[in-house]
Amino acid sequence: MTFKTIAVIGTGQMGAGIAQVCATAGAHVVAIDPDAKQRDRALAGITKSLAKLAEKGIVTDSAGIAARIRFAEKVGDASGADLVIEAIVEELKAKRALWEELDVLCPPDTIFATNTSSLSVGEQAEVTDRPQEFLGLHFFNPVPLMALVEVVRTDRVNPTVVERAVALVRAMGKTPVLALDTPGFVVNRLLVPYLLDAARAAEAKVANTVDIDAGMKLGAGHPMGPLMLLDFVGIDTVVRIADIFHHAFDEERHRAPAILTAMAARGDLGKKSGKGFYDWSGKEPVPMEIK
Ligand code: 3HC
Repeated sequence: MTFKTIAVIGTGQMGAGIAQVCATAGAHVVAIDPDAKQRDRALAGITKSLAKLAEKGIVTDSAGIAARIRFAEKVGDASGADLVIEAIVEELKAKRALWEELDVLCPPDTIFATNTSSLSVGEQAEVTDRPQEFLGLHFFNPVPLMALVEVVRTDRVNPTVVERAVALVRAMGKTPVLALDTPGFVVNRLLVPYLLDAARAAEAKVANTVDIDAGMKLGAGHPMGPLMLLDFVGIDTVVRIADIFHHAFDEERHRAPAILTAMAARGDLGKKSGKGFYDWSGKEPVPMEIK
């Protein structure tokens, strides 16, 4: 195990999943979030996920894994970690403020990793005194099931730090892909324009929700249709990534379509809020009327 103690900051759906897979890799994890409700939701999610994985024989020691995760409220609880992974809101200002705080709290050899999906890793690293110990570790949702982690290199990161991160990803049973620090890295650079186009197709009523999703599942062999995937990732998250891409590339295709910005404004954020392209309140998702 390359890291004994890992702090994960932010326990939303990504942070909770990251905490779980770090503990599965054998690390002691402190999962930090100032919001008690969020911490409770994360604990419930991890417990449910581990039970599912244990039922299928994918993890054998779910109690041991759960026991390695401790929840905490304050960022200061990250000070004893060998590695800190942040999974807070996708806003550069908020992430930079967090790293500035952590840079003072943590010893100089603690490695910092951002789970940003589309922001510059370098622009986060530069607010710290440790740009050589700073990289991106980009996970995919649902974290316990998805086999990939993008390991994002800046031009200043120490190659040994990248090697340790790669070893950690392998210890999680996942495959690392090395990517340069450019907006969206590999996966989101390709995936997000596709999701935006799917939302535009729904907006134009090219087909109904179920048929757009069936089209890409059955016609292109995707495990999940794009509208369901939008709900899965979170409408607000995709709108935020689209805004970042639009700002970075200045291309019209990255502008978030009105259907998504309206959903985000209404609070219809997808699975996490109970409503998006589908209604998630029942046992099975039910397509919503497109407004
Ligand atoms: N932990 C453990 N088990 C879980 C789980 C979790 N977090 N989430 C779902 N499962 C279980 C389900 O309960 C189900 O169990 P069952 O077989 O006992 O019913 C099982 O996994 C399989 O689920 P389903 O049968 O519902 O669905 P699939 O076989 O299609 O698998 C999937 C689910 C892996 C999510 C698959 O649909 C998939 O790969 N979808 C695409 C996901 C994707 O593209 N993610 C990337 C998004 S982009 C991103 O995250 C980047 C970010 O920056 C935006």
